[in-house]
Amino acid sequence: MYHKKRTSKSIVLYTTILCLICPLLRVNAIIPWLQESFIEDPDDPLFKDNTLIDLPPVLPPDQITDDNRSLDPYNLSVPQYVIDACPLVQLYSEERYWPSDITDYIRHFHLEDDLGNILSKNLTSLNDLKENYKHKNGSCPSEELFMISNEDFSKDPPWVLGHQPEYGTGHIKSGPAVLILVDKGNGWVDAYWFYFYPFNWGPFIMGYGPWGNHMGDWEHSLVRFYKGVPKFLWMSAHSSGSAYQFSAIEKIKKLKRVSGKLTNEVIGRPLIFSARGTHANYASVGQHAHDVPFYFMPLSDFTDRGPMWDPALNFYSYRYDGEKVEAMNEKAREIGESWLHFAGRWGDKQLPAKDPRQKWCPVQWKYIDGPRGPLFKHLDRTSLCPSFKWWNFWRGCPARRLIKKAEGLDAEKNDLVGDNCGVLLYKIRPVWLRALLRIFTWRGTLCFVMDYFTG
Ligand SMILES: *[C@@H]1O[C@H](CO)[C@@H](O)[C@H](O)[C@H]1NC(C)=O
Ligand SMILES: *[C@@H]1O[C@H](CO)[C@@H](O)[C@H](O)[C@H]1NC(C)=O
Ligand SMILES: *[C@@H]1O[C@H](CO)[C@@H](O)[C@H](O)[C@H]1NC(C)=O
Ligand SMILES: *[C@@H]1O[C@H](CO)[C@@H](O)[C@H](O)[C@H]1NC(C)=O
Repeated sequence: MYHKKRTSKSIVLYTTILCLICPLLRVNAIIPWLQESFIEDPDDPLFKDNTLIDLPPVLPPDQITDDNRSLDPYNLSVPQYVIDACPLVQLYSEERYWPSDITDYIRHFHLEDDLGNILSKNLTSLNDLKENYKHKNGSCPSEELFMISNEDFSKDPPWVLGHQPEYGTGHIKSGPAVLILVDKGNGWVDAYWFYFYPFNWGPFIMGYGPWGNHMGDWEHSLVRFYKGVPKFLWMSAHSSGSAYQFSAIEKIKKLKRVSGKLTNEVIGRPLIFSARGTHANYASVGQHAHDVPFYFMPLSDFTDRGPMWDPALNFYSYRYDGEKVEAMNEKAREIGESWLHFAGRWGDKQLPAKDPRQKWCPVQWKYIDGPRGPLFKHLDRTSLCPSFKWWNFWRGCPARRLIKKAEGLDAEKNDLVGDNCGVLLYKIRPVWLRALLRIFTWRGTLCFVMDYFTG
């Protein structure tokens, strides 16, 4: 009897706490207050990236002076250490939309503004992309523009499908990556590798979809170096991504290349996995829940060990100082750099509801707006994360020390490391007990929080 009473009491207490905390967390106005009240010293390394502990600060480009510069401003060659630590990209075995060359891609588009006024003839070269345009009524900033395809992209014309890597080398002749180096001062250098896929084929929700398709898919990874040593790797996935210690990432043995030529030296290159269709990047194979805290089965990405792409074999390289862009290799000099300042969308505008190709489900449209280009991905960031979710009011971005393993049939060894109670939960039988524990860990949010601090 006594025992029963206590249980019901604690349930009341638990529910009260939940009721109090949930609305608090969701009200954006409360967040600045939380920040001030609970984080006594915002410079406390606990609340910042562990990028900063024991090492000099990472500086935003506008604070770099001649005293703090990491890269020689007069030397426009890409340092060898950037090439040696270039991530290999493991594409999905049944991928349908492979990487392609932006030079070929743009030839299938013209520019329109939000109202459908046509701003340009068919695009023929990347030089047709720039920061500002003129039309009858005056000037028009590119950020209001969309690249609109000249033919029906939903019919999968060949240029939408892209190109598979060559077996063995991982070379994609018609799919160069884009490398952008940003000096972050005090010995820090950021190498952003951008991956361009003509089409984003969105996820299925409970077997129904795809949703959130769009033309022009820009994904990227960031390798952050300190004095030429790779320290961290960040990879993009949907509206965010994941941060890792460089040492945690899986490595593949490859022969080192200097100026494109093979040497006899074997080096370990980092490996990331590009998900089927969405091209979101992960550090392991299997099923990955995304855009929701913890594990939500219906909205998932899938990665496996399909064809491997080596972006270091074919890329355009640039240097960016927060304002100015300079081409660093011959390939980049050929296409110029004005296209990087184009602030518009790299694909069609969300199709109108009356378009027969468009569909809607309660959370998402079938076809949505194309994304903006590389310079609009917060390359001036000092944190590894380009942006923060609403619930991350302390703006933390800890780099994981252990690989976050995926779930599902494709997942490889899942040894309870790194995912804490999240993994434990899925081992629990019978299912009803698991369901109960899941409720008691706040639908797994508690596991998510544990993983955040210990992963
Ligand atoms: C840049 O370097 C100088 C000299 O080493 C140092 O005094 C200054 O604080 C540094 N600036 C920043 C923003 O760290
Ligand atoms: C320029 O940078 C490259 C790559 O880091 C290096 O090999 C070369 O020696 C540098 N050149 C000069 C003149 O410093
Ligand atoms: C120019 O202005 C007129 C009248 O405001 C407007 O109808 C038209 O769409 C504009 N044209 C462009 C290309 O913006
Ligand atoms: C633009 O391209 C489309 C499709 O390739 C073609 O039908 C159209 O004639 C072109 N328009 C111009 C002005 O060249």
